[in-house]
Amino acid sequence: MAKRTSLHGFWSSRLVFILAVSGSAVGLGNIWKFPYMAGQNGGGAFVLFYVLCVFGIGLPIMISEVMIGRRGRRNPIATMRIVGEEEGTSATWGFVGALGILAGFLILSFYSVIAGWTLGYLFYSLGGSFHEAGPVDIHKMFVSVQRNWPMILLWHTVFMGLTVLVVARGVERGLETLVSIAMPALLALLAILFVYAAVAGDFSGGARFLFQADFSALTPSAMLGAMGQAFFTLSVGMGAIMAYGAYLPEGTSIARTSFAVCTADTVIALLAGMVIFPIVFANDLDPAQGPGLVFEVLPLAFGNMPFGTLLAPVFFVLLLFAAWTSAIGLLEPAVAWSVETHGRSRAAAAIVIGGLIWLLGFMTIFSFNVLRDRRLLGGTFYENIDHVATNILLPLGGLLLTVFAGWVMCKNSSADELDIGTGLGYRTWRFLARWVAPAAVLVVFLHAAGILRKLGIV
Ligand code: PHE
Repeated sequence: MAKRTSLHGFWSSRLVFILAVSGSAVGLGNIWKFPYMAGQNGGGAFVLFYVLCVFGIGLPIMISEVMIGRRGRRNPIATMRIVGEEEGTSATWGFVGALGILAGFLILSFYSVIAGWTLGYLFYSLGGSFHEAGPVDIHKMFVSVQRNWPMILLWHTVFMGLTVLVVARGVERGLETLVSIAMPALLALLAILFVYAAVAGDFSGGARFLFQADFSALTPSAMLGAMGQAFFTLSVGMGAIMAYGAYLPEGTSIARTSFAVCTADTVIALLAGMVIFPIVFANDLDPAQGPGLVFEVLPLAFGNMPFGTLLAPVFFVLLLFAAWTSAIGLLEPAVAWSVETHGRSRAAAAIVIGGLIWLLGFMTIFSFNVLRDRRLLGGTFYENIDHVATNILLPLGGLLLTVFAGWVMCKNSSADELDIGTGLGYRTWRFLARWVAPAAVLVVFLHAAGILRKLGIV
């Protein structure tokens, strides 16, 4: 069979692909979301379950996604349709791609707002606002930032603009340049912060919180949250990785690359946790305070450490880059779809779709001020959008993708595309993709819906 070729160009090297996928994976999910989720869900047991989900569910799904993407070489909807037909089933599989595009749309709407906070904090840090500030000052700052919604709207607009810009420029010129610089630098700064937290924070308190598992804290909803977070942080279940896989040249090891990305992503999240929690406990802050956590803890660290005034702006720039390289992954599937199906130019598609996402972002902005008390089923708009996209759409998309890769694609196709022979590595992937990942997602879903308890299983 002659192989299809990508309509959007190719990554210029294997390294660039690794950078792009890890750029998509490492983002606000690691540094902003993971610590606050771990904090809200009691630490240790949540973290353990999360790591299990990353390697037991997320990794095989990531491999599946890249594999399907490279096989189909189109946007996620068309890819699922084409590969589905080739494997002798119906084209209906295209709806999994559509589900993913919807998830990306919802996630980017709030992601851009949080990235906007980062942009705001960059300006504060440049102005030296954190210098020798105490927890109370920093808290006041966070509250006043949230109240000032026109300013957040401005930052959200700037960030969406930056994202649209890169996606409009296309694969080689836009994405590559960005990812190759920001990632290594971010890691270096996290390491510096880690040393500071170890010296000045309550290191053992932080470590205990993060690594000592108290299983009574692992409620069904914490399990669902941990699984959702694993999908979110790896960017899997929504077609972003599939779209990137579509631009991957033949001959790159999908399995090895995916394993490296999952490992790097986990290390960075845990490192972020080991920066945040020692400082939380040393200052008697509340680990369960929610989405503001990182924005109240890091300024405290920068304000009181040597060279903090210098390092703070560098850190927020890097965090912004990390968010940027993730945001382009969230937008890319929808744009690729629009270009391929409607014949739009990349720029036009990016602007129209980016504009719609920007509008939806207003709901997240208002969730932290004017609409803070408007709750549906106990959550603000932001919490509901996040819950539906992260905890439901991503795992559901991932479940369907892995069923597709493991059951619909025949052994010949997957072995051919993965190109790791049919030995132990391949068999392990196939077992995880066919049985473990789908079953685990289902069990967590049923558990969270309270069905396992009703059936008397737990
Ligand atoms: N993985 C990104 C993060 O952790 C978020 C993301 C999700 C990006 C889905 C692309 C697709 O910040």
